Amino acid sequence: MDKPLQYANNKYNDYKDQLIDLLKIPSISTDPNYNTEVRRAGEWVVADMQRIGLTAELIETNRHPLVYAEWLGAGDNKPTVLFYGHYDVQPAELADGWDHEPFEPKEKDGFLYARGAADDKGQFFIHVKAVESILASDGELPVNVKFIIEGEEESGGESIEAYVKNHSDRLSANVVVVSDTSMINTEQPVIVTALRGGVSMELHVSGPKSDLHSGAYGGAVHNPAQALAEIIAQLHDTNGQISVPGFYDDVKALTPEERAAIAQAGYDFEELQAETGVPQAYGESDFTILERIGARPTLEITGIAGGYYGAGFKTVIPQKAIAKISCRLVANQDPDKIFDLLEKHIMDITPPTVTTELVKLKGGRWAQMDIVNPMMQSAVRAYRDGWGHEPIFMREGGSIPIVAHMQENLDAPVVMMGFGLNTDNLHAPNEHFSLDHFKRGIQTSIHFMYQIAK
Ligand code: BES
Ligand code: ZN
Repeated sequence: MDKPLQYANNKYNDYKDQLIDLLKIPSISTDPNYNTEVRRAGEWVVADMQRIGLTAELIETNRHPLVYAEWLGAGDNKPTVLFYGHYDVQPAELADGWDHEPFEPKEKDGFLYARGAADDKGQFFIHVKAVESILASDGELPVNVKFIIEGEEESGGESIEAYVKNHSDRLSANVVVVSDTSMINTEQPVIVTALRGGVSMELHVSGPKSDLHSGAYGGAVHNPAQALAEIIAQLHDTNGQISVPGFYDDVKALTPEERAAIAQAGYDFEELQAETGVPQAYGESDFTILERIGARPTLEITGIAGGYYGAGFKTVIPQKAIAKISCRLVANQDPDKIFDLLEKHIMDITPPTVTTELVKLKGGRWAQMDIVNPMMQSAVRAYRDGWGHEPIFMREGGSIPIVAHMQENLDAPVVMMGFGLNTDNLHAPNEHFSLDHFKRGIQTSIHFMYQIAK
């Protein structure tokens, strides 16, 4: 094991340059204008995997291709690891507030800045480079490995969902490793034990049959933008609880042990403020900040539109107004049921002066990981030896819907070995990834493969 660890250190600059090449490809999966770029990124990953000695191919789907690769030379009596990741990224443009072009990576103060650096190119690439380091120095791996890297995680993930369902034999493994989450800080790694699910929707509030002069009709016609504000203002109470009847019915209560474990992370308002700049925390006073993020469901207004917002003013009553709404859900909430509850509630509180429609966009399941299994213990030891610190177990507020599907269809435990930080500006301008994390991540991944081979 020393040889591959050393090999990875010697190769670090090459590995970094390869990651930079991958980060140059704008694989924005949500925007059809970038379809060829998404494919190019998939092809790049396949080529890199073939070069290091894996059997790799691009799998066509109804949308963006999947990357599948394997090396099964360790034989049937050795375990198989399936690594999951995504090569697509969130949209990004200089005008969003980036200090440089988001697809022209820059290295600064030990960080690599580019869209996708942390989410998720830098993270899944860690395992590719760990495999490369072992294969190049030993000619073989201590375990069998498979990779499934998708190109539409940031925009639905339907293709991989179908693939996992229909190809569970090909993807079968003894453990699934997912690296698409965050640690508390550099010296405190985290193995995520739960992910939130979610459901996204659009609320349409319509009033008059067209835009109206606000002088000719104002006062006698309910303004849809105002009605929308009135409706969404009623979705939370003053304690930050969601006021939709039945919303919390299926929420699994935290046990005292879980609350004690969450408290151990030592994350409080001080950290929240340093990371986000907010003047005060918000939300349910009966729960700590980490509990609110990891173990409680939410309802967020993620966008709002209606009326005139160009230069100057326009005296208009808009014909309609729209809010984008996204709920994060926890065990054992069902996205479809939550949507139905919300739809009914919004119809109930809609004033007779306007009409509303709630449109479902996308739902995804929450996931909970089993922490008492040998694979988890192998991961703990891998962090201890490869990273230099033992990880803590923690719930994550974000969502990776495919995790629940893999749990359902592949009879294997999922280990969430995240190497990012929540301060990496995921989905935001100036996304970055620590090169120290990249380096230590590769060491940790190498240790993990030897650990589970034992
Ligand atoms: N890597 C993230 C998940 C994540 C978010 C981990 C925050 C750690 C902290 C993933 O790529 C992501 O953004 N997922 C989406 C899923 C959604 C589009 C269904 C999310 O959480 O919004
Ligand atoms: Zn991600």
